[in-house]
Amino acid sequence: MINPRPARLPARLGVLVSGQGTNLQAILEAIKRGELDAAVSVVISNRAEAMALQRAAAFGVPTAVVLHRDYPNRLSHQLAIAEILQSYRVDLVVLAGFDRILVPEFVRTFPYRIINIHPSLLPAFAGTLHAQQEALEYGVKVSGCTVHFVTEEVDAGPIILQAAVPVLDDDTVETLSARILEQEHKILPQAIQLFAEGRLEVIGRRVRIKSQG
Ligand code: GRF
Repeated sequence: MINPRPARLPARLGVLVSGQGTNLQAILEAIKRGELDAAVSVVISNRAEAMALQRAAAFGVPTAVVLHRDYPNRLSHQLAIAEILQSYRVDLVVLAGFDRILVPEFVRTFPYRIINIHPSLLPAFAGTLHAQQEALEYGVKVSGCTVHFVTEEVDAGPIILQAAVPVLDDDTVETLSARILEQEHKILPQAIQLFAEGRLEVIGRRVRIKSQG
């Protein structure tokens, strides 16, 4: 049994982003409202144009841009990111719309200390950046989102929380994505709070949520 928990409170978060950063915003707002016993220590993007960087700056959070094209391979790029995360002594690495697949060396640096939000009910539509489109094309009637620990297999780590949404007949990728995103913004901060409280117990593939207190 593994019981990942922060070294101290508030839990120190390193958030990796590539895009618009609405999940990052949800985390920052949950902290501001006092619902999340955490602090975002650093936000790292692999894309200079990511709107997430502006959202971080608006909250006074330090940011770093580590462009993958500046490095010869995935390993050296991710080791550079890992070094920054370690320099900020982060307790938890949160992938909030980070569009690179993590190399095993990175994952091993933060065992059970990396979580990801994926816009499907895993294990459905794993390993894709187009999960909402694939859900529509497949014709599922229910989809949703999943927060899971990141292990060396892509999108296959132990599941912490999931939320389901209906798929409607007239849905487009945009309307379905928006409905899923609304749930992402709830369960990602919730999962981080469970980690902060030391309430997650990983037993094999299953994550048990300990009751409070
Ligand atoms: C979300 O749909 C998330 O599930 C996926 O990437 C998207 C990121 O959105 N991994 P945002 O950048 O947080 O707005």
